[in-house]
Amino acid sequence: MRAFVITKYKEPLREAEVAEPTVGERDVLVQVHAAGLNQLDEKIRLGEFKQILPYKLQLVLGNDVAGTVLSVGEKVTGFKPGDEVYSRPHQDRMGTFAERIAIAEEDLALKPRSASMEEAGSLPLVALTAWQALVEQGKVRQGQKVLIHAGAGGVGSIAIQLAKHLGATVATTASSSNAGFVRGLGADVVIDYVTQDFEQLLSGYDLVLDSLGGDNLHKSLRILKPGGKVIGIAGPPDPAFARAAGLNPILRLAITGLSSKVRKQARKLGVSYEFLFMRASGDQLRQISALVDAGILRPIVGKVFTFVEAPEALQSLAAGGYRGKAVLTVTN
Ligand SMILES: NC(=O)c1ccc[n+]([C@@H]2O[C@H](COP(=O)([O-])OP(=O)(O)OC[C@H]3O[C@@H](n4cnc5c(N)ncnc54)[C@H](OP(=O)(O)O)[C@@H]3O)[C@@H](O)[C@H]2O)c1
Repeated sequence: MRAFVITKYKEPLREAEVAEPTVGERDVLVQVHAAGLNQLDEKIRLGEFKQILPYKLQLVLGNDVAGTVLSVGEKVTGFKPGDEVYSRPHQDRMGTFAERIAIAEEDLALKPRSASMEEAGSLPLVALTAWQALVEQGKVRQGQKVLIHAGAGGVGSIAIQLAKHLGATVATTASSSNAGFVRGLGADVVIDYVTQDFEQLLSGYDLVLDSLGGDNLHKSLRILKPGGKVIGIAGPPDPAFARAAGLNPILRLAITGLSSKVRKQARKLGVSYEFLFMRASGDQLRQISALVDAGILRPIVGKVFTFVEAPEALQSLAAGGYRGKAVLTVTN
């Protein structure tokens, strides 16, 4: 089948003929119709994750999929051929920039009925990230104040909508041309990150979702109320992540060291910092489907590329120029 692969880190994505997926007894074989693009794909291509995720090359890239079930393994009970599904496959089994992919049943869900394949394919990684940050880790409650950075981006555009649904007052950072767009998603306070300093304008926040890291992360700690929390998805990784990732002791120590400064600053301020590295979850995708079908979450597809345009699509992530997500369509 056709797929987009890398055979060496840093080399451009290229089309290749690869073997058909092997379908295990608890796997579902999916015909790919749409595959969302993520910054993670580009970071993997550049080799930025090779310590944490030691992939064997050649590697088919792609972390998001919407498509149709072709066949199921003998122990699969929840899906049948013809079902329209979506998924962020387990990190060890990525490879959605391809005509077909085998995915563990537990990582799959029926796609929202009201969403097109492109819309569904844009959702899994960013919606799971928003869910795990705001529902699981952040436990956002009615009346809390939440800042979502980069509100016009893939994660931000879903996180704003989810935080509103959870009953929070939501602030976000965006460039001025996206102010109306993020207000439309539900943001109550919009800060132009080019001309304004969010640290001067916000205080007493319960939670910040930081997708930028660096200075942005340190400033975010300072707008929290005592006991508040920053959840960082751009890093640095924290000790809990290093433990859960099952890394060797030397790497674990090195990774833990990366966040020691920010954790120390957080302690001084009486707040906390947690890193989130999202994971696959079919259960959470089912809850996300329900929110989409209820009109609570709206997928934001900013740009659609054809399958052969995959290398340009990946490059477009750095250039930006669209809101929400870029998606590849895979016609067979
Ligand atoms: N740890 C995890 O599990 C996890 C999961 C998902 C994503 N991530 C990471 O999170 C980051 C964001 O991902 P994404 O998919 O949302 O990226 P994205 O869609 O590419 O984000 C682009 C957005 O970033 C905004 N932006 C750029 N500079 C900004 C600044 N200084 N302040 C505020 N907004 C700014 C832009 O806003 P304007 O267009 O308004 O200028 C643009 O809309 C990436 O580094 C990604 O790798 C991590």
